[in-house]
Amino acid sequence: MSVVDLLAERAPLRYLAKVETSLADADPAGIDLHLALYVCYELHYRGFRGVDSGWEWNPGLIYLRSQLEDLFLSDVRRQVGEIGEVSALEELEKLCVEPVNGDGPSYYLRDEGTWEQMREYFTHRSLYHLKEGDPHAWAIPRLTGQAKASFVAVEFDEFGAGKGTRLHQQLFADLMEAAGLDATYLSYLNHVSAEALAVVNLMSMFGLHRRLRGCAVGHFAATEVTSPPGSRRMVQALERMGAPIECRAFYAEHVEADAVHEQVVRTDVVGDLVSREPDLDADVVFGIRAFDLVENRLADHLMRSWRAGESSLRREID
Ligand SMILES: [Fe+2]
Ligand SMILES: [Fe+2]
Repeated sequence: MSVVDLLAERAPLRYLAKVETSLADADPAGIDLHLALYVCYELHYRGFRGVDSGWEWNPGLIYLRSQLEDLFLSDVRRQVGEIGEVSALEELEKLCVEPVNGDGPSYYLRDEGTWEQMREYFTHRSLYHLKEGDPHAWAIPRLTGQAKASFVAVEFDEFGAGKGTRLHQQLFADLMEAAGLDATYLSYLNHVSAEALAVVNLMSMFGLHRRLRGCAVGHFAATEVTSPPGSRRMVQALERMGAPIECRAFYAEHVEADAVHEQVVRTDVVGDLVSREPDLDADVVFGIRAFDLVENRLADHLMRSWRAGESSLRREID
């Protein structure tokens, strides 16, 4: 029985009944695993209409979730490989060296992509941007001191600095509407590829496990540091396409704000955390590399589809 079918039922009264399923042949990067894991995690965010909220902490379902997480995390650890002697701050430094002419989706969209491909890109990214800031927020109670204060200062901007209309989640919803897409939370869950779900599953997993808090901070830092150059290319792409102002506004905001965030996360979040808890240094590096891995998998999927003249989505958008 699939996780989706299971959730249509009431959370079981037999409190410890395990949810058994055969995962022996599951592809750790495949759609079945990532959709099931995404659905399990979503119970901790906004849940699903018609789904008993008792499922959130149902031990049987958590048992299944932990098996899915083990498969995903071991695969990411295998692909990332040995961490080596590098420090978290050195690793962040490396992220800042970007090619002027790379071959990822933002370069492609800037130079030759179509508006339809741009809308596919928005659709894939909607799973994250419509909950932007939320997955990282799980890390806040696990931090202390300056690292915590600065982490929250950056998140404050992600959450609109006190203005509901300026929530980055809302800015992305405005972008979706301006692009003629459905801005409803989770509306494209069944359209996006496994790679797009894995991007969000990675941050949910890091955020929801205290033992992975160093990874969550590394992931957060990598997100902020890589955002300004990528967002700048998206602004250029959208200008070339003559896209609506709301579409450009979302990325323009990230060129400006994330340039400031980048400095804060480097020194005051990562720098402070690793001076406070040196044992977490390698976890921060792993978080940065894991971010890079899942982002590259999504980029490869998009570029493979577009170069072949195909849609990158599992299901066409209307
Ligand atoms: Fe943002
Ligand atoms: Fe930011």
